[in-house]
Amino acid sequence: MTRIWPYLLIAGCALAADTKPPAQAARGQAFFLDETNAKHCGTCHSLAKQGNAVGPDISKLARLGPRAILMAIRATRTEYVQNVKLKNGTEFPGMPVAQDANTTQYYDVSVTPPALRKLDRSEIASVGDNSVWKHPPESAGYTPQQLADVIAFIKWASYGDTKGVKVEDVE
Ligand code: HEC
Repeated sequence: MTRIWPYLLIAGCALAADTKPPAQAARGQAFFLDETNAKHCGTCHSLAKQGNAVGPDISKLARLGPRAILMAIRATRTEYVQNVKLKNGTEFPGMPVAQDANTTQYYDVSVTPPALRKLDRSEIASVGDNSVWKHPPESAGYTPQQLADVIAFIKWASYGDTKGVKVEDVE
């Protein structure tokens, strides 16, 4: 016993330091994954191996300043999502996923959660700029504290940043 206890304590601490976010990032993580909100970030983004990788990998812009990240969250012009028109006359905003010789896959982001659609290339009439779908406009209703917390989580999950984000930096 006396030999096992110290070992367990050390192992426990190392694990906690590696995997547990600081308090603010933990709040941001809970918000990111909050299933009571049908359009929580994790519906469409994956971080720290949780959530769904529908939208782009947001860890790539995690090192930007909090305000720049906030602008990306609030952006109304889309960079990736395209307007996909089908020959049957329907259209949908699609986030490109993959393609092979005959098919193209998109996430249809007009529905929640986004639906994966695998289309035969012959079904597609045209693919153009999207001007209809907006990045979840609900983010306009989030409080500065929620936004600071979620950005702290993005930074912690992406590159281990533990400094946190001040509310003043996103107001
Ligand atoms: C319904 C799906 C959906 C939800 C919910 C969602 N996003 Fe997104 N997000 C996307 C898509 C799709 C894009 C790509 C938009 C485009 O075409 O530019 C995107 C883009 C982004 C970008 C910019 C990425 C880049 O490389 O330019 C950031 C940052 C981001 N989302 C963060 C968030 C955060 C934080 C939340 C939660 C508050 C959230 N998103 C909720 C689908 C979603």
